[in-house]
Amino acid sequence: MDVLHEKHIVLGLSGGVACYKAAELCRLLVKAGASVQVVMTEAAEHFITPVTMQALSGRPVYGSQWDVRAPNAMAHINLGREADAVLIAPASADFMARLAQGRADELLSLLCLARPAARVPLVIAPAMNREMWAHPATQRNVAQLRADGAQVLGVGCGEQACGETGDGRMLEPPEILADLRAVLTPPLLRARRVLVTAGPTWEAIDPVRGLTNRSSGKMGFAIAEAAREAGAEVVLVAGPVALPTPRGVRRVDVLSAADMLAAVRAEVDAADVFIATAAVADWRPAQVAAEKIKKDGSGDTPALTFTENPDILATVAALPRARSGELFCVGFAAESHDLLRHAQAKRLRKNVPLLVGNIGPDTFGRDDNALLLVDAQGTTELPRAPKAELARALVADLARRLGAVD
Ligand code: C5P
Repeated sequence: MDVLHEKHIVLGLSGGVACYKAAELCRLLVKAGASVQVVMTEAAEHFITPVTMQALSGRPVYGSQWDVRAPNAMAHINLGREADAVLIAPASADFMARLAQGRADELLSLLCLARPAARVPLVIAPAMNREMWAHPATQRNVAQLRADGAQVLGVGCGEQACGETGDGRMLEPPEILADLRAVLTPPLLRARRVLVTAGPTWEAIDPVRGLTNRSSGKMGFAIAEAAREAGAEVVLVAGPVALPTPRGVRRVDVLSAADMLAAVRAEVDAADVFIATAAVADWRPAQVAAEKIKKDGSGDTPALTFTENPDILATVAALPRARSGELFCVGFAAESHDLLRHAQAKRLRKNVPLLVGNIGPDTFGRDDNALLLVDAQGTTELPRAPKAELARALVADLARRLGAVD
């Protein structure tokens, strides 16, 4: 389940051009299953109307501490108490200065101060001109807000409404959503370092042709994202796929199995968990032609011979740190039939504590999947669900296993 599902988010807007992005952010929150209560400062209302935000959130917007709609006349208390998180996006330089000082002379800063801080996180997405962002006063306020327990998100770099280019843009709505998810997710993998392989490999025949397979990389990317949400430091070694890098994940792009092995070797010593979801080609052409192989009109076909690729998972699983249990290895098996038998056999052959089986034709390119977890004790089924949801379930399962190992 998406951690935002049925969460109640107070979305606070302070004054800034980035208010236009708050409309999209509100829509994404609602789409993720959250209820959204918008609160706007007077300055924010110069940039976007409460009518737009009401239409998108489905709730009347609050703007004043003197609002008489609340029966107890304490909008600032009710709003904070009801929330699962208070998200300020955009947070202007002035608004952050006010928060850092603990000011409370208008509704939004008042409710931030009055919220039950131990239970309701305050998440801040700054947005301002690059000089304002770089100014020591702003950086001092950011440091103070963090010291006071707020989660101040980063800023984007790029073109600004003022015509300048630099740091200070508000993060894009999907980035803010990803960071909010990470704030709200129980940190089951906090301080764990997770290395994931994903996608197909590309084995060159000549400079323009190659052998690959239908792996989309979606399952591995979802696992990387879920692990990051759960607090892990994640490195994703990805074969050639057209997927966006999950927020907060370090991605290393590779083409061939040999490249993938080299990238994994470079990263694995720093990992606590290795999850091999990549569909690595079993063979590669024995020779890569330096020039494009040409049709000569004779009807003859080129004779390709193959060399076996290294088995990345088996190589990692044989490392001393894996054998001692310091590095926990998870393999995947994409089968077409007899999933349980093949998954059990593969777990033993690869020598890994956990093997996750799935039916290849039922998962390639799809957004949903069904998993069968096979370990020395037995099996656990994760029934068909979106890959993002299965990834979260797998991360929770892993956290239990790691907890048992520690
Ligand atoms: O042997 P098979 O390819 O079916 O094994 C699948 C598992 O092994 C997956 O976890 C896959 O990522 C991994 N693997 C690998 N290197 C290979 C072949 C498979 O890491 N050359």
